[in-house]
Amino acid sequence: MTRRTTTIAVLGADDVARLREVRLAALRQEPAAFLSTFDQQVTWSEDEWTRELGRGTWLVAEDRGSDVGLLGATPEDDIPREDRYASYMWVRPDRRREGIGTLLLETLIDRLRADGVPCLWLWVMDDNPNALRLYEGAGFRLTGDRQPLAADPTRHEVRMVRRL
Ligand SMILES: CC(C)(COP(=O)(O)OP(=O)(O)OC[C@H]1O[C@@H](n2cnc3c(N)ncnc32)[C@H](O)[C@@H]1OP(=O)(O)O)[C@@H](O)C(=O)NCCC(=O)NCCS
Repeated sequence: MTRRTTTIAVLGADDVARLREVRLAALRQEPAAFLSTFDQQVTWSEDEWTRELGRGTWLVAEDRGSDVGLLGATPEDDIPREDRYASYMWVRPDRRREGIGTLLLETLIDRLRADGVPCLWLWVMDDNPNALRLYEGAGFRLTGDRQPLAADPTRHEVRMVRRL
């Protein structure tokens, strides 16, 4: 399998269970990459997942019936109302380094640009060089914002932004 056989689906209102399943797979598999934990989100009710789905744009990378990647974009309080944050970025371990993360980002950027979104922001752990390289390659730059994690102040996240 290669990136050539992978397509990107935009989740719709009926995809609550799908969002839950892919996100929980990501949290279970890669706990250090995210601020939320599997134990927190596994307890979310259907209403909470429905609200999460409705909060933003959610892309799933799929390949022959399997979901192999996830990426979302949501508005947040600490950025201008028209901008979005990228979050939930994850590619299944057996499909990494094929360009699927890049494909998710490029697809998201194209959609947001078409919708007139000016900037896409994100936070990433500064001990996650693979994600930092992915984002730099997709045109994000460091803003200089850096903060310790509430749950572990020995670790830090840095903020990046890409003008669309
Ligand atoms: C980070 C992640 C999403 C990358 O997904 P991916 O599909 O492997 O990314 P791509 O194949 O598009 O890689 C794009 C570039 O990122 C960099 N990169 C990604 N993974 C890398 C690795 N393991 N080692 C070195 N560079 C890496 C490379 O520059 C790569 O370009 P190249 O393959 O041409 O050298 C994936 O590793 C992942 O899901 N990690 C765990 C979750 C996570 O960290 N999410 C980010 C939260 S902010």
